Amino acid sequence: MLWLVTLGLLTSTLASPLYSRQTSTLPAPGTRGPAPKSEWVAVYEVAKAAGRISTFAPAKLSGAGNPYYPPGVDTGENGFVTDSPSFVHAVAACFGDSDISDAPDGMYGVSFDDGPLPSSPALYQFLQKQNQTATHFFIGTNIVNNPDVFRQALASNAHIGVHTWSHPYMTTLNDTQVLGELGWTVQAIHDLSGGLIPKFWRPPYGDADNRVRAIAKEVFNLTLVGWNRDSDDWCLNESGGSSCGSYGPKSIEDLENELRSWAVGGVSPGIIGLEHELTSKSVGGFINTYAGLKQHGWDARCIPDLFDLSWYLNSPGDSQPIDSSVGIGAGLSSSPATTSSNLDAAATTPSPGTPSSVTSPVAAVESVSQTVQHLASSATPRPAFSSFSVPLAFFVAAGLLA
Ligand SMILES: *[C@@H]1O[C@H](CO)[C@@H](O)[C@H](O)[C@H]1NC(C)=O
Ligand SMILES: *[C@@H]1O[C@H](CO)[C@@H](O)[C@H](O)[C@H]1NC(C)=O
Ligand SMILES: *[C@@H]1O[C@H](CO)[C@@H](O)[C@H](O)[C@H]1NC(C)=O
Ligand SMILES: *[C@@H]1O[C@H](CO)[C@@H](O)[C@H](O)[C@H]1NC(C)=O
Ligand SMILES: [Zn+2]
Repeated sequence: MLWLVTLGLLTSTLASPLYSRQTSTLPAPGTRGPAPKSEWVAVYEVAKAAGRISTFAPAKLSGAGNPYYPPGVDTGENGFVTDSPSFVHAVAACFGDSDISDAPDGMYGVSFDDGPLPSSPALYQFLQKQNQTATHFFIGTNIVNNPDVFRQALASNAHIGVHTWSHPYMTTLNDTQVLGELGWTVQAIHDLSGGLIPKFWRPPYGDADNRVRAIAKEVFNLTLVGWNRDSDDWCLNESGGSSCGSYGPKSIEDLENELRSWAVGGVSPGIIGLEHELTSKSVGGFINTYAGLKQHGWDARCIPDLFDLSWYLNSPGDSQPIDSSVGIGAGLSSSPATTSSNLDAAATTPSPGTPSSVTSPVAAVESVSQTVQHLASSATPRPAFSSFSVPLAFFVAAGLLA
């Protein structure tokens, strides 16, 4: 009997490249800032010693749940200088020159955050039927909780990016926690895809600064992808009601009207929309308005295809050949103290972080309504973000990153 089971296991393993590299013990779902692998820390320390990672302190979370910097912190960007505890400024959705947030003229970057979730397969089936690729920024916790949906994404030609392990405000985490949030999500995607190493990430809530950005780039070679239109589709719950109070769409009709307004709006710069695969409503809004988007002539593509970039760090598309000499967290320049090249080889059991922080599946969203304050600069105005229409107001006008 046992041999039959063994044979069955073997056959299913051989039948699919998926799971074939599951060499890591991943952190428990929901672990906030899981302890990183020592190899990633070693690469980080080299970059830090070389002055390539900012040294300012992490932001703090205010009682209202907004990130702010302690007094005296200068992040050297976006006009964030000295703060005070009574003056909260948000760090969300301010994207810099090294980030991707606009599409080329006439193009529409299709992306969905927070999967893989039970609401996702309908989206994957629709996209595949339309021969439409999209970038899916996945939460590590949701990958381990929904491995079959992850497998369906890959099988449907989805392009996969990183959306952190537990969906925190990344600027509020220390460097070690940032390493763990990014590294383990990269590792999960790698392990469950047969070896792909993601190349793009999107910070939850758009919350990033030069410290977080540098860790992502220097250690994991990840490029930050933001957005320039925000659908607020996450406001709609599964029953079609809104969880956002007076803010955002109140109904699927509201959401579809918003998406249609993008389709008939300006084509320069092109659009990178913030949409979610959170509920059948957020997915439905995209599906129901997709034909109109195409009718208006938009050239819709996944994020790397907007710029003719490769999809992964070690593979041009979603398929072989995978360059197995590329490691996770190999860093950008000088090699780390450790000689261990590819973390595949490191079968060391990682610390799963704090097990007590295990939570239910992460279904968090870019809840920008309460937190996003985009800093405006008269000198270098950014494209209008719909998240400007937030009910809070803590605007600071100062030299925005050009
Ligand atoms: C998708 O591509 C296939 C094969 O090239 C083609 O037969 C089909 O008509 C395309 N579907 C759409 C909706 O473009
Ligand atoms: C970051 O915080 C974690 C958890 O509190 C702690 O274990 C770690 O040592 C801290 N790292 C740094 C660089 O402060
Ligand atoms: C959805 O939102 C509506 C309106 O806010 C609310 O009445 C309803 O209880 C919510 N349903 C769920 C399942 O959260
Ligand atoms: C980092 O990624 C770029 C592509 O985005 C690639 O050309 C480069 O070789 C990578 N660097 C390292 C050290 O892997
Ligand atoms: Zn998100």
